Amino acid sequence: MGLSWVDYWNGDSPVYVNDRHKALHAKAVAGDIITLIETPDAKVLDYGCGEALEASRVASRCGTLYLHDAAPAVLAKLMARVADQANIRPVDAEAVWQIEDNSLDLIVINSVAQYIPKDDFAALIARLAGKLKSGGRLVLGDLLPPGLSPVTDAKALLSFGFNGGFLIPAMLGLVRTYFSEYRNIRSALGLMHYAPEEAVGVLEAAGLKGKRLARNFGHNQVRMAFEGRKP
Ligand SMILES: C[S@@+](CC[C@H](N)C(=O)[O-])C[C@H]1O[C@@H](n2cnc3c(N)ncnc32)[C@H](O)[C@@H]1O
Repeated sequence: MGLSWVDYWNGDSPVYVNDRHKALHAKAVAGDIITLIETPDAKVLDYGCGEALEASRVASRCGTLYLHDAAPAVLAKLMARVADQANIRPVDAEAVWQIEDNSLDLIVINSVAQYIPKDDFAALIARLAGKLKSGGRLVLGDLLPPGLSPVTDAKALLSFGFNGGFLIPAMLGLVRTYFSEYRNIRSALGLMHYAPEEAVGVLEAAGLKGKRLARNFGHNQVRMAFEGRKP
């Protein structure tokens, strides 16, 4: 079997330099998702949610939180962790499509687009748009602009490390990444980059009113976020 990004994420993916980095990242992303929730009874899907360490905090601000990740090991861990939380529903690749059409208020897809071939991603967005209710939003976060270099991402990580009190681990983490599987897979498979008008085009092709948001999710503001609202 060939390399795949989902296999990478299904393994013991060492992209976080330490637990503090992981925790601060999860906190920032959860905070950003919460700012997008418009009503306390909102139905929210976090697609490609990863470990979703702050899922409980997000769930406390909405009616139902669906969590989906393509990596089976990530999803299994999540299922065990949130099993006792009534309004959190982890959904696998089949169950995610059983969510009722026209029922979701918000779909968040943060830091996932870069791992999916562009045609597949456009098809995914079109299919997910069918799950949004009228007035609902699909928000894409952490899109890589064209030409974004690993050096620019590295600088953003160092600045996050400086502000978050994990500068030395961030520096060591960068050295580790240089020799890591992530770098090998990145050179073999690449990462998808989007120009702003291209990202808006993907949302519009799915029948959504697309626009770029003022801020990206999380710490790396060189990357971009977009929303598509269903008419
Ligand atoms: C960089 S992590 C982002 C996790 C989380 N959204 C966050 O912001 O912290 C990327 C996640 O996307 C998931 N992923 C990659 N391709 C996917 C796909 N086609 N469908 C669903 N999840 C996918 C991976 O398994 C991984 O957990």
